[in-house]
Amino acid sequence: MPNPLPTRRHVLAGLSAAALPAIVSPTAFAATGPSLRALAAEKGILFGSALSARISEAPYLDILKAECGLIVPENELKVYVISSQPDRFNFAPGDAIASFARDNGMKMRGHTLLWNKVEFMPKWLLDIDFGSNPAREAERYLRDYIKRVCTHYGDQIISWDVVNETIDPKTGEIRDTPFTKALGFDCIRIAFEAAREYAPKAQLVYNDYMSWERGNETHRKGVLKLLETLRAKNVPVDGFGIQSHIGNDGHIKEAQHEQWRAFIDGAVGMNYKLLITEFDVNDKDLPTDTAARDAGVAAAAKDYLDLMFSYKQLDQFLCWGMSDNHSWLQGWTPRTDKTPQRPTPYDAQYRPKPLRDAIAAALKAAPKR
Ligand code: G3I
Repeated sequence: MPNPLPTRRHVLAGLSAAALPAIVSPTAFAATGPSLRALAAEKGILFGSALSARISEAPYLDILKAECGLIVPENELKVYVISSQPDRFNFAPGDAIASFARDNGMKMRGHTLLWNKVEFMPKWLLDIDFGSNPAREAERYLRDYIKRVCTHYGDQIISWDVVNETIDPKTGEIRDTPFTKALGFDCIRIAFEAAREYAPKAQLVYNDYMSWERGNETHRKGVLKLLETLRAKNVPVDGFGIQSHIGNDGHIKEAQHEQWRAFIDGAVGMNYKLLITEFDVNDKDLPTDTAARDAGVAAAAKDYLDLMFSYKQLDQFLCWGMSDNHSWLQGWTPRTDKTPQRPTPYDAQYRPKPLRDAIAAALKAAPKR
């Protein structure tokens, strides 16, 4: 068992007081050995995590400060937060995270300028009437939105998920949204071009969740086709964000190594940088027993990360949260035995788990880039 930190540090600096309830949580436990950030840096990889502005527990923030060199707001830069009403722009939640990152010397990613999926657009945007010249008006709206968001954060955001999840996993085609109705594929091109214009120093990324398990074949094919089209049309895209929610749909044991390598080879062959943007391990089809489950999660992670780190084009690696109690998976894909999922490097009491050891081991084994 690792040693508890000698003192509880209050590390709320930077997150806005209004957004934060009182501190109620226990002490975090320090992991032994170098931080994940240090292990990653030795290999030329920037390690980080998502952070939600709702999270206030000092031990959780201590873990981020100890382990991460990079932060991405989990929800705060999504259009449904920034612009839940037409012509209104709320940057306060994103700003709280930007302050936390700045105050703690962490870099920041942005997620996401165009989540081209109707489920995550505000109602007013779904109902929008782009008027008699829909292509012109949709382009005007999109460029204006991207300009506002990019210029608000300026150079602090080193890398943007410009477009997120525009491929429908069932068909492999671009999803229908108000933007594709008005502009077709051009909405993707316009989003990247506007991001280049208004965030000229940032890395521009296409981000999606196609995974390596059986069942993702059509999704992978569609994403590769999109990456090809982006290159063919000279759209300014620098990187390919592989979300890496592995074990999805309970298929943790059905990884397709060969097909996955072919898929990644296809992307790097088109000269895209690679990022792991949202890593976690869904343990839905692993046993209830904690030790057995943690071992299964750790083994799946090591298997996956060894393959991914073998690509020197990969130089950013983010977990989608650092402790189990704050993982999106608890609410979204509950286990049938009703026990909480254990998908992240630290448990709900902020103790490092075998998954953290697996991540550290994979980083130690990774070739330098
Ligand atoms: O803010 C409301 C709150 O007022 C309300 O009481 C509560 C009740 O449901 O919902 C709150 O908002 C939730 C929000 O998370 C903040 O907790 C939304 O309903 C919920 O849909 C939202 O889920 C997020 C989801 O994206 C949709 O935006 C998850 O936290 C977040 O982890 C997840 O992240 C996505 C990435 O952006 C893209 N890739 C997949 C990844 C996991 O789904």
